[in-house]
Amino acid sequence: MPAMKPIKTGLLGLGTVGGGVVTVLTGNAHEIARRAGREIIISHAGAKEYDADAIRGLDQVGRIGDDGFAVVDDPEVEIVIELIGGYSPAKEMVLRAIANGKHVVTANKALIAAHGNEIFRAAQEQGVIVAFEAAVAGGIPIIKALREGLAANRIQWAAGIINGTGNFILTEMRDKGRDFAEVLKEAQQLGYAEADPTFDVAGIDAAHKLTIMGSLAFGIPLQFDKTYTEGISTIGQQDVAYADALGYRIKHLGITRRTDSGIELRVHPTLIPARRLIANVDGVMNAVLVQGDAVGPTLYYGAGAGSLPTASSVVADVIDVARALTTDPGNRVPHLAFQPDAMSDFSVLAMADVHTAYYLRMQAVDQPGVLSAVTAILGNLDISIEAIIQKEPAPGADHVPIIILTQRVQERNMNTAIRHIEALDTIAGNVHRIRVESLG
Ligand code: HSE
Repeated sequence: MPAMKPIKTGLLGLGTVGGGVVTVLTGNAHEIARRAGREIIISHAGAKEYDADAIRGLDQVGRIGDDGFAVVDDPEVEIVIELIGGYSPAKEMVLRAIANGKHVVTANKALIAAHGNEIFRAAQEQGVIVAFEAAVAGGIPIIKALREGLAANRIQWAAGIINGTGNFILTEMRDKGRDFAEVLKEAQQLGYAEADPTFDVAGIDAAHKLTIMGSLAFGIPLQFDKTYTEGISTIGQQDVAYADALGYRIKHLGITRRTDSGIELRVHPTLIPARRLIANVDGVMNAVLVQGDAVGPTLYYGAGAGSLPTASSVVADVIDVARALTTDPGNRVPHLAFQPDAMSDFSVLAMADVHTAYYLRMQAVDQPGVLSAVTAILGNLDISIEAIIQKEPAPGADHVPIIILTQRVQERNMNTAIRHIEALDTIAGNVHRIRVESLG
């Protein structure tokens, strides 16, 4: 066993992920020391509340208090592991840890997406590492893949199912016809959902993660405010069934793509061909597809949430930091994959400028000429139709559902088409739109 003295870490938060980190760091201590070249211990933990009986290995934590700032100010602690989540006080604690010259490992996607530029600048000035593998796709080492494994490539696009709760809900709706609220409750009980589950359902959690992936893929500063975000709450049982009939699955995707005019950053429900592997990623699992110019398509799959899978990524980061401290601390991987002085100011595209295909569902009066009025609007705007389904009216109903799949078109044109279709007297209510990606 290595003769070097153990590395002391300080843990902020003993919730779902914090508890998992204690269990993994203590349970796999010997294996981890063999990999890191040093023993890694938790010398000080700070948590306002925790369930001592639920955490395996808690007896091996040096000291447990309720003050996170005492952990970041503890002179013995070399690496601070932030697992509180949210913006505040996590941000203040992380910045203070950095100011104190400590390395930081965090699973906090909201913090990195919204404040990462400031945090990385501070870390750069202090010469410390901020590692955040667990912030995107839980246990899948996607940050390492984008930042290191694929470093030879010009990345063309990345698309992922990066919110386990949302994928769990869509899967249960499709397979078992279960109720949205009931499935969400189960995800909360299993420890997958965010503290505020609207972050999962409204797509904010996925947008945090996509923002980070976009920066790592294309070397642009983190721009969460420019990420187009749409959640899953508008998806109905009938959309899931129509998509199936057309040979597609509906997945909540985060997509980032390099185009000639800018970078796409968008999160929304998406129809993808059922034959794609990623279309068959179900339940709480996550998957990210990355297309590089040299490597071609690569797919990363695994648990995107949960105590031990997320701890797997957190502890891997701690081991990385331990190795850097032990070997060549000057030669580090840049925080956002590209050297800070080589970041690009390539702009993020407005959603209206994005090109994609569409699934449209509308309710029409069952009379001659309705379909041709709709298709004329699409045709006049240069929007090609890929497929149309017109269903029988339900018994006693005045309206029939019409489902149209279009070819790729600029979102601006589609917005105009939808406005014109909704203005037709023969169309009732709103046109329901879901974007379609072939991911080919
Ligand atoms: N709420 C998140 C999810 C947890 O469901 O994926 C992991 O970031």
